[in-house]
Amino acid sequence: MAEPLPICYLNGEFQKLRDARVSPLDRGYLFSDGVYEVLPVFGGRMFRFREHFDRLARSLNEIRLASPLAHAQWLEILEDLIRRNGGGDMYVYVQVTRGMEFGRNHNFPDKVTPGVFAMAAPLPLLTDEHRANGLSAITVEDFRWSRCDIKSTALLANVLMKQRAADAGAQEAIIVRDGDVLEGSSTSIFVVAKGSVATPPNSNRILPGTTRDVALELADGTIPVTVRGIRVEELRGADEVWISSATRDVLPVTSIDGRPVGTGKPGPLWQRMNASFHALRQRLAGTPAL
Ligand code: PDD
Repeated sequence: MAEPLPICYLNGEFQKLRDARVSPLDRGYLFSDGVYEVLPVFGGRMFRFREHFDRLARSLNEIRLASPLAHAQWLEILEDLIRRNGGGDMYVYVQVTRGMEFGRNHNFPDKVTPGVFAMAAPLPLLTDEHRANGLSAITVEDFRWSRCDIKSTALLANVLMKQRAADAGAQEAIIVRDGDVLEGSSTSIFVVAKGSVATPPNSNRILPGTTRDVALELADGTIPVTVRGIRVEELRGADEVWISSATRDVLPVTSIDGRPVGTGKPGPLWQRMNASFHALRQRLAGTPAL
């Protein structure tokens, strides 16, 4: 993946990312006691700002950490960060940790200032090969905690799953729990059969994906879509499988566990969804973030 852009925001100051430093006693470092967001920027404008920062507020609330900044303050800081990094297309990463205390105690400290960090990076580029032939994935049995709805920085299970995929020459690990297909290690999932699209319902077992919501909106009326549980057998027999995330829109998965999905090529419904995404981006470039 390409290097991040040079300027970051750390605890109230813009600075060079290469010079940025935090204490090893920050609870984000000691306990992964923090949450994060990733949002795309098209033509210098943040996409779905409100949805991402509503989700951040929810994650913070669920870990009982008061939001250090209001939406308007986040907006101002991130617009500045985007400008300082030259604008254009990129993504922004935002992280809030419970902060640093002098010591290591599991329970919350009485007085602590949350740690706030934001950086920007180029959007990952899809290779021509992936565009033409789609991505490959493996399936993995879920071994994460039972609050996957919180966008926590504690991503070790997701990291191990993604690496398992990489070791198998695949780009994503599709997570299955007790036969239910849930999501990818860093993506939401859609399964297409007989001309109809399905995606699992939001619950404590998955992250409520912002891009998934965009896809549901775009599908509305033109592509039949249902939000319902998906069994692993359906995944194996699907005509198309898609994954989605803020940094990658909706991408086709054309091979799972070494076997082709449908024809083994990106399918017609994905082509339509991808075209709708493209058109939406074009329309939104140049409009305000909120
Ligand atoms: N990941 N599920 C998981 C487990 C995720 O980590 C992500 C996003 C998604 C998709 O959510 P959204 O459409 O809002 O990006 C689903 C981000 C991109 C990441 O960790 O880098």
